[in-house]
Amino acid sequence: LTTAATALALSVTASAGFAACDDGEIVVKFAHVTNTDKHPKGIAAALLESRVNDEMNGKMCIEVYPNSTLYNDDKVLEAMLQGDVQLAAPSLSKFEKFTKQFRLFDLPFMFKNIEAVDAFQASDAGQAMKDSMQRRGLQGLAFWHNGMKQMSANKPLISPSDANGLKFRVQSSDVLVAQMEAIGGSPQKMAFSEVYGALQQGVVDGQENTWSNIYGKKFFEVQDGITETNHGIIDYLVVTSVDWLDSLDAETRDQFLTILAEVTEARNKESHSVNQSARQAILDAGGTIRELDADQRQAWVDTMKPVWDQFAGDVGQDKIDAAQSINA
Ligand code: LMR
Repeated sequence: LTTAATALALSVTASAGFAACDDGEIVVKFAHVTNTDKHPKGIAAALLESRVNDEMNGKMCIEVYPNSTLYNDDKVLEAMLQGDVQLAAPSLSKFEKFTKQFRLFDLPFMFKNIEAVDAFQASDAGQAMKDSMQRRGLQGLAFWHNGMKQMSANKPLISPSDANGLKFRVQSSDVLVAQMEAIGGSPQKMAFSEVYGALQQGVVDGQENTWSNIYGKKFFEVQDGITETNHGIIDYLVVTSVDWLDSLDAETRDQFLTILAEVTEARNKESHSVNQSARQAILDAGGTIRELDADQRQAWVDTMKPVWDQFAGDVGQDKIDAAQSINA
């Protein structure tokens, strides 16, 4: 594809969910669930698409399907093992059927910010996690950042006891179930594409997410407000199948992985500012954001953090200690 054709393809992707690939190119379907604007993953996926389609023209062509237009996040990994999709970037909370190692990232108040997550992932222990599902046929390629999670509900949440008796949507992670139970909520696992409707219809009362997801899917429109708890993180693993990666010749694979590494480095640095601009966009659109003072936030820490004890065996005390030493 030429640059002009790539630009056209990108606009087609945004509107119709497909890009034009030429005959003979290796077609790489990349399915994800978020929006594309003011979103760390949406922006990174579009950049990967445009760079590969430019620089690997004639060899490889990526088609990004955002907004769950191809697969929901509970289906995409199975589809990948069937060879129906080649790339995805589910949140680390969505790999429970394949590994329990990523539970570390869901433990509330484990990482103080995304820089700490980045530093942990850059360590040998973090890098080894990308290979932890090879036996199951999946190969992690890169960690992509989103950001810190905030709490929202159909009533103001200041103290954790305000969450008592509320139904909360969670991603498909047992750690997040335990976290919501710790604040007296009743958690319900649900695909991302269903959250807006479930909040609107009162199937659930609240949810937790990053600014970019709350803005991108307009959750703030169907919630009383968002409380700035920064209690956890959403981060992603760009993943493919071992079979697909092995099917590439060495030169093609190296070129693709080099572009992916460069996109990862460039976009991960911007994830915090992308989330801050989504936060501002929520305010500009009339959404309510509540900040907590130090004592109020400490009450959330005290209520949620005991969840660590339930999962220390799964994630390993050594990893918890390593993550904590990065925070220090
Ligand atoms: C969610 O389901 O809330 C998130 O994992 C969506 C995403 O991909 O950020």
